[in-house]
Amino acid sequence: MKNRTIKIGMLGLGTVGGGTLQILQKNGREIERKLGVGLEVKRIAVRDTGKKRPVAVDQELLTTKIDHVVCDPEIDIVVELMGGVGAARQAIIRALENGKFVVTANKDLMAQNGAELLAIAKNQGKNIFYEASVGGGIPLIRPLKHCLAANRIKKIIGIINGTTNYILTKMSLEGMEFAEALAEAQARGFAEADPASDVEGRDAAYKLNIMATLAFSALISMDDICTEGITEVKLRDIRYARELGYSVKLLAVAEEKEDGLVLRVHPALIPLSHPLASVENEFNAVFLQGDAVGEVMFFGRGAGALPTGSAVCADIMDAARIIKEEIENGIMETDFTKKEVIPPHRQVSRFYLRLKAKDEPGVFAKLATAFGDARVSLDMIIQKRSDAETAEIVLVTHNVEEGRFRQAVETLSAMPVISSINSILRVAD
Ligand code: HSE
Repeated sequence: MKNRTIKIGMLGLGTVGGGTLQILQKNGREIERKLGVGLEVKRIAVRDTGKKRPVAVDQELLTTKIDHVVCDPEIDIVVELMGGVGAARQAIIRALENGKFVVTANKDLMAQNGAELLAIAKNQGKNIFYEASVGGGIPLIRPLKHCLAANRIKKIIGIINGTTNYILTKMSLEGMEFAEALAEAQARGFAEADPASDVEGRDAAYKLNIMATLAFSALISMDDICTEGITEVKLRDIRYARELGYSVKLLAVAEEKEDGLVLRVHPALIPLSHPLASVENEFNAVFLQGDAVGEVMFFGRGAGALPTGSAVCADIMDAARIIKEEIENGIMETDFTKKEVIPPHRQVSRFYLRLKAKDEPGVFAKLATAFGDARVSLDMIIQKRSDAETAEIVLVTHNVEEGRFRQAVETLSAMPVISSINSILRVAD
């Protein structure tokens, strides 16, 4: 390559775009020294050129037209940070067809259309880099693609949504209500534009999809992932869990078993002694278990402008190296196959259940019989505070197939002594 500057075009200048630009401005010389070539942001497509931004940006760079970026022959790398699926997918395809390398932080898109986009990139002799799509600033995609490539990955378990971890931490440590904690997370720039994706578990499911696809070389659809968010988690359950020696976390779990894949995102009680229990606020942590390496843990800031911008900049640098050295694009993750997925009712877990029952003799015995009849073994059963007529009962089961547990709960709901089933949460080992 002749000794010229590598030119970058950006799509979107929101939280992550601002962080990316800030890092390129602040560490530009260091980045150039490491690369042996300069980087220049040539154009940025935004929705509103007049918007006030937290980062200094030359107004001349701004355009409202995506084509001014993806069709500019001088631009080498297109950095897609606009989010969403439809327009972003079209923009990335056009950029690849126009011979650009692509960097994206778009987990919704990579989870749903990653295989298609990577195949197009490979066809074009280009590449898509998406480190920032999972875990913000924490390296996860590169370890899966490169450092751990010789392993058969057996299991992934982690906390991969900063917003929900922040909310659960605030509820647990400060007794804050859900809405107040969510507002704080949004103000700090962790939450998605539509926070429903965070609190309903979809954001974590997208990220799990991306990691599991790489880990198991599997084609995974979003419907394969059993997804529950934290909207039904009550402060009361967080307090009871703590009394029992657990913390409540939104966990993402992917496992390759002999009879298929387990893929799920849900709130769960996790023992206070487990390292994931002490991952607080917007921090994320992921355990990967490989057959050769054993268990490795990744920990860091999973959201926010600079942490996510850090991953975007590293991807830009990787693309720039390929362009500078005129080497092969190095794309390797395109060989995905459809695998069996174990349905939720056959997945095995322990369960926490909170219910209200009439406070009268024989209630415990009736509960025990209902669980016994469904062949569900109980680990703990505690009666909490009761008023004149109602007792609150909290119980934890041993490992059981979910289908069998649900059957026992159905029997309980129909019993006249049971006033209400209030919460059901899984318990992680
Ligand atoms: N909303 C996401 C989170 C941002 O809270 O983790 C990073 O993907």
